[in-house]
Amino acid sequence: LEVRAFAPGRVNLIGEHTDYNDGLALPFAIAEGVTVRARANAASRRISTHALDLGEHDELALHAPAMDVRSADPSTSAAPTVSALPGVPPLGTITNTVGWRAFVRGTVAELTRAGIILPGADLEISGDLPRGAGLSSSAALEVALALALLELADARAAIDRRELARLCSRVEREWVGARTGLLDQLATLFGAADTALLIDFSDLRIEPVPLVLPHGWQMVVLDSGSRRELAASLYNERRAECARAAELLGVASLRQARLEDLARLPAPLAQRARHVLDENERVRAAASALRTGDLPAVGPLLDASHASLRDLYETSTPAVEAAVQRLREAGATGARMIGGGFGGSVLGLLPPGAQPPADAGQVKPSAGARLLARE
Ligand code: GLA
Repeated sequence: LEVRAFAPGRVNLIGEHTDYNDGLALPFAIAEGVTVRARANAASRRISTHALDLGEHDELALHAPAMDVRSADPSTSAAPTVSALPGVPPLGTITNTVGWRAFVRGTVAELTRAGIILPGADLEISGDLPRGAGLSSSAALEVALALALLELADARAAIDRRELARLCSRVEREWVGARTGLLDQLATLFGAADTALLIDFSDLRIEPVPLVLPHGWQMVVLDSGSRRELAASLYNERRAECARAAELLGVASLRQARLEDLARLPAPLAQRARHVLDENERVRAAASALRTGDLPAVGPLLDASHASLRDLYETSTPAVEAAVQRLREAGATGARMIGGGFGGSVLGLLPPGAQPPADAGQVKPSAGARLLARE
């Protein structure tokens, strides 16, 4: 049996750093993504993986995915492998630099832990999504791997898509060391053509919002070209600050916090919480603007989101500011950093007649994760 599964990257139109605060976001899946081809290998109790674009290889034993089994090529032994065991919290500073192997090992381990009996398999990973550019290549990889492996195990229906999003986010938390929320996984799993997803993270309700740009309008992403080395630990720090703010306010999450209470918080917790509360309101405003076809109203919301991320949440960098500036100079009606921050990509909304920078790529709301073939 051979299967092929695809999971797209995502762009978050608006609603940044709200997911782990039980807030609101409005992401969409894009056309680019990660494809995993998986061939069952019944004779083996191993998963052997080839990352095509990197020319790298990994092999793991199904009964002990965390252990280094054997180096099929010399680079494998040099590459860092994951030592965390499932269920054991990571140090928090292991960043994405542990590389793609952690995702494969983590996905295999979490599926096994969920009771899925995986067959031995040969996997091949390919894709057209830039890594580390804030377009959610991590979630695309986890989800494509999970869908391919579930299909091979004939267990497609065993885990529903919300549960799968949680499983994939455990891969990031416990195997990669990034305490991310569910934004990226839900966007890749539930994305649809010409649609943004209004996600309420307090109950994981997802409402489709039509996102079709009128003639001449475009959305582009521009890679800031930088990613701060400490991005993952700074992200975790922001997350901890929000948890602390909620605790001081005596609420379960910042979703329940009231604007008038924020003055009781010390700096910088008050600023962080202020961003989260305002950002939820901006998401609501953007969703209703899209619903009424009022695209010009979205630009200023993107700008306000960016200013808040820069000044209150403090996740911008000089390279990100330069990218935002370039999009504004190109005529964007709104531009903002997307994703976890400290580098990554910037989104710009361009009206008719605006000419995007040559190195910007156009993005379009596209179909979500799916099985491409089974033969
Ligand atoms: C990263 C995380 C998401 C989300 C965003 C910020 O992309 O993976 O869970 O927290 O940052 O909105």
